[in-house]
Amino acid sequence: MPPRGLASERNNHWLPHPYPGVGFTDLRPLLKETDKMSNSHLEKPTTAGIHASAPLFEVRDLETVIHTRSGTVHAVNSVSFEINAGETLGVVGESGSGKSVTMMSLIRLLASPPVELRGGQVLLGGEDLLKLDEGALRDLRGKKVGFVFQDPMTSLNPVFTVGFQLMEPLRQHLGMSRRGAHDRAVELLALVGIPDPARRVDEYPHQFSGGMRQRVMIAMALACDPAVLIADEPTTALDVTIQAQIIELMRELQSKLGMAVIWVTHDLNVVREIADRVLVMYAGQVIEHGPVDALFAQPAHPYTRALLATMPRAGGAKQERLRAIEGMPPILTEAPQSCAFRARCGHARARCAQELPRRQPLSNGHDVACHYPLREVAEHV
Ligand SMILES: Nc1ncnc2c1ncn2[C@@H]1O[C@H](COP(=O)(O)OP(=O)(O)OP(=O)(O)O)[C@@H](O)[C@H]1O
Ligand code: SF4
Ligand SMILES: [Mg+2]
Repeated sequence: MPPRGLASERNNHWLPHPYPGVGFTDLRPLLKETDKMSNSHLEKPTTAGIHASAPLFEVRDLETVIHTRSGTVHAVNSVSFEINAGETLGVVGESGSGKSVTMMSLIRLLASPPVELRGGQVLLGGEDLLKLDEGALRDLRGKKVGFVFQDPMTSLNPVFTVGFQLMEPLRQHLGMSRRGAHDRAVELLALVGIPDPARRVDEYPHQFSGGMRQRVMIAMALACDPAVLIADEPTTALDVTIQAQIIELMRELQSKLGMAVIWVTHDLNVVREIADRVLVMYAGQVIEHGPVDALFAQPAHPYTRALLATMPRAGGAKQERLRAIEGMPPILTEAPQSCAFRARCGHARARCAQELPRRQPLSNGHDVACHYPLREVAEHV
């Protein structure tokens, strides 16, 4: 059966994505007031309650919806994954695929309403973060889970010096003296490679370049030595040289501090370089997951294959444009009941319109949510 066209999907429960070609979806309107322009989520470190054996961080069947004037958007649909200490999980997908809403749902950074966490579990050392009250959650943010935002200005307050913003949580939550917090702030800036940190600690965010601001954000996220670091497009706005420096820095810090890192990005080359495992998202769902080498060598989902085909060729022209995947990702106004990729899939058959594909294991930790994974297609042709 040929794939169904987008026009017919409009009459179904899908709408075309409203931000085609836009760099990233703007989540600022959805952030909780207390978390806008604030680093008060950074609190004192502890590893209490985090067991070495079980997965450090486990997300099960996470469901998030956003109530908008034009209806309810099912932004995150039954998302599950886990990550261990010292591991890096790359999260990829087109704009609007639900990467940021998923990440922000994990530590409940989004305002409710309009955002509603409908279900699931987010287990950190066995403790379900979705069950914590706001006080306990504040205590945990930054302490066990650090967050580097997609947009640096979401986290940095332009009216306070960088040092003040680094010192505030250290003083408030670790009870450090002014002097001690100041020294630690200088140390953190040095750790992330800011030259002349003793002087720059007293400067304001606008006195830092984009790359340096991103380093400051990483320093803020690391201030309290978190067990898990979530980095949402930490290098998107940076030029390639700075991007390479930040990637190297994150690698170094991870091996020094042993954190689990969740790295969200559009850039498949970055994922290939840094990730141990990859999670591919589409329409708020995990449609493929696996070890980075296996997934890149043999993608099983038609969407992953199409996504990999958009990568610039190694040694290709410098200005080579990404080939876009034809069609647009849908916005789900109902929980998905069938394959959300079918309007764009060259392999779609009748079953794809009738039944939601669930994640099924392939081999060695590789799984895919497709009724006709490409491996099987290849094997049976
Ligand atoms: N401010 C908003 N208001 C209403 N809905 C929103 C808003 N921001 C995001 N959404 C909805 O949530 C869905 C998931 O968005 P999300 O920001 O998580 O995507 P993303 O994968 O992070 O995209 P990008 O790569 O552009 O950052 C969007 O498709 C959109 O439907
Ligand atoms: S289930 Fe697989 S084959 Fe069917 S439309 Fe979806 S991606 Fe294509
Ligand atoms: Mg995003």
